[in-house]
Order: sequence, then C-alpha cells, then structure tokens
Amino acid sequence: MDDLKLNPGYEQIIDALMADKYAIADSFFSSSEIDALQVSLRRKYESDGFKKSAIGNQANEKVVDAVRGDYILWLDEESADEAEKQFLSKINDFVQYLNRTCYLGIKDKEFHYAVYPEGTFYKRHLDTFQNDSRRKLSMVCYLNDEDWQPEFGGELTIYLKDNGRETEKNIYPLKGRMVIFESQLLEHEVKPVKQQRLSITGWLKSR
Ligand code: OGA
Ligand code: MN
Repeated sequence: MDDLKLNPGYEQIIDALMADKYAIADSFFSSSEIDALQVSLRRKYESDGFKKSAIGNQANEKVVDAVRGDYILWLDEESADEAEKQFLSKINDFVQYLNRTCYLGIKDKEFHYAVYPEGTFYKRHLDTFQNDSRRKLSMVCYLNDEDWQPEFGGELTIYLKDNGRETEKNIYPLKGRMVIFESQLLEHEVKPVKQQRLSITGWLKSR
C-alpha cells in the first residue's frame, strides 16, 4: 500500500470546504514566513511595482473605483524571491494534496499581492469571469501586522445560503490568516478599510 500520510491541517481545510464551501486556517504559514512576505510586498509597493486593479479580464478589463480600489502585483514564479518561493512551494504542496485526496484536478495557479489603501473596498462579487470558469478555489492570505483591530474595518464578508436564507460571515484580515473558498459558489466583498490592508490572493485553477 502507498504511504499516504495524512496532513491534519490540510484535512481540516478540506472538511470545512466540504461542509461550508469555505475554510479559515490561521496557521497555514508561520509568523516569520508572513513577515518575510510582508517585507517583499512593501519593497515592491514602495518601488511602484503595483498597478490599480481592474475588473473583468482580457479585452473586458477596466478600472472601476466604485467597485474595487486595491492595487495589485502578480507574482511571477520565475523571478520570485526567497519568501515568494517558500510561499509558492507550500501552495504547491497543498495543491498536490488536494489532487491526491480530492481529485480536484488543479492544474494551474495564479497569485497577486494586494494593497487596499485607506478608504478602499471591493464590492460584492464572484471570483469567476463570464468567459472563463477555470478558477476553482480562491485563497486569500493576510499580511497585516499583529495588531489589526476591528475598527480598522476591511472584513472579508462571505455571503452564505442557510436553508434558502442568506447569511453573512465576517472575517477579519488577521496576520497570517488564510481564507479558502469555492470561487464559483460564494459571493463575497471586502468592507471599506480605515487602515492600509495587505494580502496575497490567488486562485487554484483547472485546465
Ligand atoms: C479578491 C477578493 C478578498 C480579500 O481579490 O477577489 O475578494 O479579503 N479579496 O482580500
Ligand atoms: Mn474576490
């Protein structure tokens, strides 16, 4: 028999995804891994590497401040620094586990840093494009400092269906927290932030 070791952290995420369509993992990355990613993000943000986010894709892409106000920078695997390589290698490990245990058929991934300056938000939306349904799982990992307070705003609100009734799950962007959810099923939004909000966000995709 194959030696298929169970990973309790991954199992918890998979159980939550199956039951609720979303999962929250507060220790997917270590505190020092998050610190290193925050340093990389800040260095690139300060050297003007980020661009205003847009909605839609390809020819339909446009910047709409009334919908989202964050600035993003896509990670490039080839030119990734040490912190980003470490991040992507842990994500790869998770993807292999998902494909092995859940037959999800994840073939591709894409991640970007995101900075929400004070006063910005991302209105309620779904993470899939009309012309492209490859995004299966959305992953958001917060790179804020330890002291994120409720009055800073910036909750991720996920809209859930509970016996046909809509309910809201509010999730604070706490340092190192990873939120994973089904891209095609769950609408969500980022509430207005009153303090700069940092994250790395991405998608696991089928072919
Ligand atoms: C997104 C998004 C959520 C968050 O980038 O599509 O919904 O909490 N992000 O940053
Ligand atoms: Mn989204």
